[in-house]
Amino acid sequence: MPQSIFYERDLNSAQLEAVYYTNSPLLVLAGAGSGKTRVITYKIAYLINECGYSPENMFAVTFTNKASIEMRERVNLLLGEKVDVWVKTFHSSAARLLRMWGRGLNVEPDFSIIDQQDQHALVRKIVTGMNIDTEIYRPEKYVYLINRAKDQLLSAEAAESENFSTDFYFNDVYKRYEEILAKEHVLDFGDLIFRLTRGFQENREVLDRVRERFRYVLVDEFQDTNHAQYVLVKQLTDSHGNVCAVGDDDQSIYGFRGARVENILNYAKEYRNCRIIKLEENYRSYQNILTASSKLIDNNSERLGKTLFTKKGEGEKLVFCRTDSDYDEARFIAGTVRDLVMGGEYEYRDIAVFYRMNAQSRVFESVFNQDRIPYTIVGGLRFFEREEIKEILDRSEIPYTEMVMIPNEYPPNPDSTYYGPWFMIETFVGRIKIGWRKRVIHIDWSETGLSASGADVVDKLETTHGSSYVHAWGADKAVEALRKLWAAKEEKAL
Ligand SMILES: Nc1ncnc2c1ncn2[C@@H]1O[C@H](COP(=O)(O)OP(=O)(O)OP(=O)(O)O)[C@@H](O)[C@H]1O
Ligand SMILES: [Mg+2]
Repeated sequence: MPQSIFYERDLNSAQLEAVYYTNSPLLVLAGAGSGKTRVITYKIAYLINECGYSPENMFAVTFTNKASIEMRERVNLLLGEKVDVWVKTFHSSAARLLRMWGRGLNVEPDFSIIDQQDQHALVRKIVTGMNIDTEIYRPEKYVYLINRAKDQLLSAEAAESENFSTDFYFNDVYKRYEEILAKEHVLDFGDLIFRLTRGFQENREVLDRVRERFRYVLVDEFQDTNHAQYVLVKQLTDSHGNVCAVGDDDQSIYGFRGARVENILNYAKEYRNCRIIKLEENYRSYQNILTASSKLIDNNSERLGKTLFTKKGEGEKLVFCRTDSDYDEARFIAGTVRDLVMGGEYEYRDIAVFYRMNAQSRVFESVFNQDRIPYTIVGGLRFFEREEIKEILDRSEIPYTEMVMIPNEYPPNPDSTYYGPWFMIETFVGRIKIGWRKRVIHIDWSETGLSASGADVVDKLETTHGSSYVHAWGADKAVEALRKLWAAKEEKAL
């Protein structure tokens, strides 16, 4: 038995308007925490319960698996029973549609899907097989370019004729890659949407059948769609215009994956009779936080513009602190965390630290470890659990903060072949970029900010640490020197 849904009780007036509006394409433009996902889930329920749509007419898409699982759960909770509403990511939607209708779309439906790791391995094999220098012509770059070309719906031929990339070997690599995928009957992630949209273009009757089934399309996190996804949404909806896109032009974070925030800006223009509804009431934060973040976001150049407010009250004032270095920043945060926990009002689990890139976790982790502040990294690997770090720690058996590496050659020889991953490491002399091939550790001194030679570094060590320990070439010697260094430090501490 479907349970009754109290739309008026659960939604504010702008949200209600968005849920009830079904006459033409709808763009719900809203800030963080303003109930965008809530609108989509209630709208699905409303369409099914009140407007005569059946669950299988719904096509709801979002970006991550996690978001789609959460949305499906929220829909099921509202509808009070397990109904078969299509709530999926773009990729899994496309894969499913190709399996269902592939034959009519020129794709044999029993294809396999190559994951990112295998894709990298394949491109590496192609590039190596072409006998070109993989240090200059890096396989990762070709993977990136191929993926971006597919996001733009450019086949290898189209990419070539449109001069998609100026890279000398790109067209060749892309063509060989496509040949192998075709021969092995494999699609990569980019192909899923690419092949589907191309199939729809070439086979209108199949597209019509798909449109008959999916009579209403809802897209969450619309600001993150790339060109191919945008085209897919248009194909599915331009005959009937039953589409509700929900997004925040200020929250687009996937530019590096081909997401185009213009999609949301153009949507209103491209869809005739498009209605725009803004959700501006935020349910997560206090007003001080909203005001401060609005001040920053106001600087974004292309935006449709909205002003968030909350009824939760002012809240505490924000603290803004500028420090001289990332270490000082981490120390300041660690100090604040300790004060909060010592004050008795909070536990460690109540506190979150946000940063922009995974690499930034390292400094925090290092300081938290020193201060014995327990932490977990959400959505990424702890720095010390990353493979390259484990490898180097295993090799040296000492904490990395104590590491000092001396280059096996200076200046670094640009011709030396190098295959391992690079990473930055904090040492006594600053931050250096290191990597290794086989057992030779290689250091890029240009990253230290020192115009240094190895000797300068040793000098600097001597002045900052008052003893002379290291001057080693090659990994084994460096490790040996590190052991000595560590022993010397321990001795000093005793
Ligand atoms: N009308 C409302 N009344 C009470 N709570 C609400 C209302 N609308 C949204 N919320 C609550 O606000 C929070 C944010 O809602 P929701 O996740 O739908 O927002 P969102 O805009 O999708 O957020 P995000 O920007 O993170 O995607 C949720 O806890 C939700 O239950
Ligand atoms: Mg949301």
